[in-house]
Amino acid sequence: MGDQTPFQLLPENASAFSHASDALTLFVLGVCGLFTVLIFVLIVWFSLRYRRKSENEIPERIEGSILLEIVWMVIPFGLLLVMFVWGSKLFLDMKRPPTRALQIDVIGKQWMWKIQHPGGQREIDALHVPTGVPIKLIMTSQDVIHDFFVPAFRIKQDVLPGSFVTEWFIATKPGNYHLFCSEYCGTSHSRMVGTVTVMTPEDYQSWLAGVVPDERPARAGERLFNSYGCIQCHGKIAPTMAGLYNSKVPLSDGTTVVADEEYLRESILAPAAKIVAGYAPVMPSYSGRLSDEQVFQLIAYIKELASATTQPADHPDAQLPVYQLPDLPPANRLPTRGQP
Ligand code: CUA
Repeated sequence: MGDQTPFQLLPENASAFSHASDALTLFVLGVCGLFTVLIFVLIVWFSLRYRRKSENEIPERIEGSILLEIVWMVIPFGLLLVMFVWGSKLFLDMKRPPTRALQIDVIGKQWMWKIQHPGGQREIDALHVPTGVPIKLIMTSQDVIHDFFVPAFRIKQDVLPGSFVTEWFIATKPGNYHLFCSEYCGTSHSRMVGTVTVMTPEDYQSWLAGVVPDERPARAGERLFNSYGCIQCHGKIAPTMAGLYNSKVPLSDGTTVVADEEYLRESILAPAAKIVAGYAPVMPSYSGRLSDEQVFQLIAYIKELASATTQPADHPDAQLPVYQLPDLPPANRLPTRGQP
């Protein structure tokens, strides 16, 4: 798509990760290419240079060289360390979404991508995003393992049933880009494809305005929270949800977890897995009673309750631009943490 030609080595560059990812790929490719050529040339040269020249030739005795052996161990070791450190740094950058990203829910199922924007707008096999702001995808699968792959953004993430995974990027260039499912997931796997449309923030805004939204996920979550009676306990005999998202939660076993999407999902579906310090394991499991989508909605609501908490200005994410969602009605406030 876009201006991609069939003979390009790498796909189009359309995200903030593209250059960093390409640089590492080319470095690894270059090192491997260099050694392939070096070894190939040496094999040919040695086999000519040291071939047996006559039937009764006795070769010279060779004692070996410590220096040579050290050199051919240290240089490749150093090169591999460079790849390791460089790769880990990039991997961590790509796996740590900023806390203030525009969050979009993605559900993979045989054989489509179902997407919902925070304002309630839905799409299937299509994703519209604005340029220049961090976008965080919260993804799960309804059935088997799928894989969300946008080559132009250099992002690729397995999407697993029974687990929430996240992926983030900053789109840099308006245009249409391929979205693939990159994990064999059944008969129509090859047709589980779509288009990511990158727009300027203004165009995105008018696109949003042109789609009739469903109920906002956070609002639906609030409804669920009330109808399931969560409010009966949370904030009283159970921890309050206000300010919970992304905070550090002390657990009864002495460890601490960050209340991310996966923690919230697990706490709803398998509450006994991690017990908050000072509370009894009394919450029933909602596994089988809530769909993936309803869990997304509850989490969206819990996040909205936390959005009042401000981020310190020295936090690295504070430098990133934020997409302001157009006029969202405020969620009901729950008692803050620590209060009975
Ligand atoms: Cu879904 Cu392949």
